[in-house]
Amino acid sequence: MTTDTAEWKRQATAFAVEFVESGMVVGLGHGSTAIHAVQLIAERMKDGRLRNITGIPCSFQAEEEALRYGVPVATLDVRPSIDLTIDGADEVDPSLNLIKGGGGALLREKIVAQASRRVVIVVDESKLSPMLGTKRSVPLEVIPFGWRTQMDFLEAMGAKVSHRRNADKSLFKTDQGNLIMDCRFGPIMALRELIRVLESRAGIVEHGLFLDAVSEVVVAGASGVRHLKRA
Ligand code: A5P
Repeated sequence: MTTDTAEWKRQATAFAVEFVESGMVVGLGHGSTAIHAVQLIAERMKDGRLRNITGIPCSFQAEEEALRYGVPVATLDVRPSIDLTIDGADEVDPSLNLIKGGGGALLREKIVAQASRRVVIVVDESKLSPMLGTKRSVPLEVIPFGWRTQMDFLEAMGAKVSHRRNADKSLFKTDQGNLIMDCRFGPIMALRELIRVLESRAGIVEHGLFLDAVSEVVVAGASGVRHLKRA
């Protein structure tokens, strides 16, 4: 990550944190961009600009960060309605459809997004793309049982499939203990048809395509910060 990219990630998140108000239940996203929200909310709680914030983390890692910085957290079962979620993304198309799951937290991220009244996605400009799939693979969360059949099925659909692995080459496991298969489809013209096929397949728990899930994206880049809204 360049110094510029790191700074843009911080700027995008700082813009979104301005939408956080005292008393809110806030969805805390996963990844190097969204994680800034925890630090910025904690700063505002310390200096009194924010009070009575409850965070709903999208991952164990986001929860650890929240606890480290002193942002109180609750589960969705205790606070099932979220006022505002700030989360990152891996690829964003002109209609603000997203690929997410680069950090492996796509299932919880989608549950949290669907429980949120407002979702603000924060990205640096490298995430913008003319068509989903152009830059990134689509991550799928797959249960370990029968994983080989999923791989064969996906390859027969034309995807180049790889098992997500940790730095030490061991298999990456999600917070639910499932596997991630990264599927390179190339630019995806028939998004809804692909989603229909993936969602009808037993054993594929969730996919990283977020369509109609968000209406706002904050993008930071060389020309400053832009607040994009779905038309
Ligand atoms: C996490 O599972 C993803 O959906 C992240 O939101 C995504 O990978 C963004 O990561 P960065 O902010 O680190 O680029």
